Amino acid sequence: MKVPFLDLKLQYQALKEEIEPELLKVFESCAFIGGSYVKNFEAEFASYLGVKHAVGCSSGTAALTLALRAAGVRSGDEVITTPFTFFATAEAIAGVGAVPVFVDVRQDDYNIDPDQIENAITEKTKAILPVHIFGAPCEMDRICEIAERYSLRVIEDDAQAAGSSYKGRKAGSIGDIGCFSFYPTKNLGGCGDGGMVTSNDEDLSVILLALREHGAGKMGAEAYELLKRSGALGSGIEGAGIEGKASEGTGERGAESGNLSSIGEKATDLYDPYKYYNYLIGYNSRLDAVQAACLSVKLRHLTEFNQKRAEIAKRYLEGLTDQVRRPVYDEKIITPCWHQFVIRSAYKAELCQALAEAEIGSGTFYPVPLHKQKAFGAGNCRIVPDSLPVAEEISSQSVCLPIFPEMTMEQVDYVIETVNCFYKGKG
Ligand SMILES: Cc1ncc(COP(=O)(O)O)c(C=O)c1O
Repeated sequence: MKVPFLDLKLQYQALKEEIEPELLKVFESCAFIGGSYVKNFEAEFASYLGVKHAVGCSSGTAALTLALRAAGVRSGDEVITTPFTFFATAEAIAGVGAVPVFVDVRQDDYNIDPDQIENAITEKTKAILPVHIFGAPCEMDRICEIAERYSLRVIEDDAQAAGSSYKGRKAGSIGDIGCFSFYPTKNLGGCGDGGMVTSNDEDLSVILLALREHGAGKMGAEAYELLKRSGALGSGIEGAGIEGKASEGTGERGAESGNLSSIGEKATDLYDPYKYYNYLIGYNSRLDAVQAACLSVKLRHLTEFNQKRAEIAKRYLEGLTDQVRRPVYDEKIITPCWHQFVIRSAYKAELCQALAEAEIGSGTFYPVPLHKQKAFGAGNCRIVPDSLPVAEEISSQSVCLPIFPEMTMEQVDYVIETVNCFYKGKG
């Protein structure tokens, strides 16, 4: 029996009849950037999470970048995060000129260890960036409590946690800002790159809206004022010296321009007099309508897809031999979305080889913890304390087994049988 690590074609085939008519409508409208599909999907996603604001953007990496900028993180600041994550988490921190400060993770759920955070806080610390790795929410109450005590922002990396929850609250609705990726392999995956930034804070949402579109128009002007008032303008990449324009832009004529407008839907936007007034150095980080249309359809199935993943995870947890070290989650507190099912093996390479010989796909996330990446050498990061043994151990042992909603229970049982048979040979 063949078991792929993931098969996106199966999901597309199952949803083809729902997705294709929506994509056709986008093509026929020619409203490719922004417009009603993006607005609708933002509203649906905000409602799904139970947050006030959801701002679509071009990727999970863009979401993190926008969130850090909106939180006022800039050159010379420090952001505390986990070394056991995808590179983009810390890349975004470095990308806004700040320094990622890595603290160790926990043995049981592979997430940032709240016990290690306080020790890493300095006068330069601006935010804590927990990552809900593999879809298992971090211990958010403790993280938020520390953040509050030190007046730090909490930016959640929810790239792998669409639909996960912590004490009944959805990931992405707990910290100050949530950052999602809709990369096609994610639990909620588009048909290209895409992302979302979520928040309950009106001011943050204004800054996010402005930054995702070149810091322009009314939103740009409002965001400029907000950042200026909070003292986050001046020496970073936020832009300065354009105060005159900022106050002009808050006037009536700017009212249409900051919000992502769709060229196809409203030709007059081309002549918006404020469109080309820019107040902040922002980005082109827009979500496109093709992604939004596809994601709206998939969002309707997310609960059912995550449920299917949970059934597969349960089967693995019950069926795998006790010799296999598996993640331990407190499911009275968290509901993981099971983005990945990651076990630990002292025989990592051998086990992956045995799985490959049995025609079972597997992965290894993440083989190199971020503090060991060349890119974070030469003083580009800080480590507290001076070694991170748990992250290093997990990186050297992690093996991801296939888990996706379309997987059959026969396939799951075949994986279990193959892993158990491998371990029998180990005595
Ligand atoms: C934990 C984490 N953070 C950030 C990202 C970046 O998302 P994207 O690939 O959409 O830029 C990813 C996805 O690959 C991720 O897994």
